[in-house]
Amino acid sequence: MLFYFTGTGNSLYAAKQFDNDLYSIPQELKKENRQYKADRIGIVCPLYEFDVPVIVKDFILSSRFETEYFYIVMTYGMHEGGCAARNAEYFETNGRHIDYFNTIKMLDNALPVFDMEEQRRIDPEKNVDEHLAVIRKDLEERKKYIQPAAQEEVDFYLGYKANAIDYSASIEKPRYRVSDKCIGCGICTRVCPKGCIRVSEGRAVYDYADCIGCMSCIHACPQKAIGYAVLKEKNPNARYRNPNIQLAEIIRSNSQN
Ligand SMILES: Cc1cc2nc3c(=O)[nH]c(=O)nc-3n(C[C@H](O)[C@H](O)[C@H](O)COP(=O)(O)O)c2cc1C
Repeated sequence: MLFYFTGTGNSLYAAKQFDNDLYSIPQELKKENRQYKADRIGIVCPLYEFDVPVIVKDFILSSRFETEYFYIVMTYGMHEGGCAARNAEYFETNGRHIDYFNTIKMLDNALPVFDMEEQRRIDPEKNVDEHLAVIRKDLEERKKYIQPAAQEEVDFYLGYKANAIDYSASIEKPRYRVSDKCIGCGICTRVCPKGCIRVSEGRAVYDYADCIGCMSCIHACPQKAIGYAVLKEKNPNARYRNPNIQLAEIIRSNSQN
């Protein structure tokens, strides 16, 4: 049994390599009294700002899991910042024991920091499938492992934190804006895991109060009509979805309609 969250498909692709019994976290969160029982239970999700996304933390801490083996694998793009060790401790303190916590480097979809064309170019260097196979084997063997925090990753994380005030100020809500290019197709409304977007009078309207910043709407918009409101993007014409994942799968995973 594996629960996943994905904005642009990397985490769903990874999840598919580890288990066949997949459940989307945004869909599960619609249920009350969430109780799950299986020999092995996993969580796969992206890493957001060196951390577990809030939607995933909430799901883990508000659900009951009965299992012999609980694991978390996070997909990230450039720096994991010692996330596994820090969060294993966080969950332990909050009553959730983690047997295995690892990260896997994939394409970085963070538009304010990276150009997706350039990311696609360097993607083969990350040897994603090779690394996924190693993790898959670990999980099959029920390996006990928490990825240690490398000093350079901790330093990178602390450096980011020290500058985070400026960064946070620039992503004050609303994070995104919808331009005149919008044709009201509604795809953004269907990929948003928080139901923040609706179409009104032929145009997307972004109600940003609950937005968790996953960038799913921006990346999925066929018109490239959604972008950052304040932050500059490296390449406003480049968008991303994991090439092995269909748009329909992102919609099935996230739609709140
Ligand atoms: C809001 C946000 C924050 C991110 N923060 C980080 C980060 O701190 N370090 C990193 O290496 N990648 C970061 N990324 C990149 C994603 O973790 C990475 O591309 C991930 O594989 C996306 O998974 P998905 O396709 O399942 O959504 C961030 C992406 C987003 C949207």
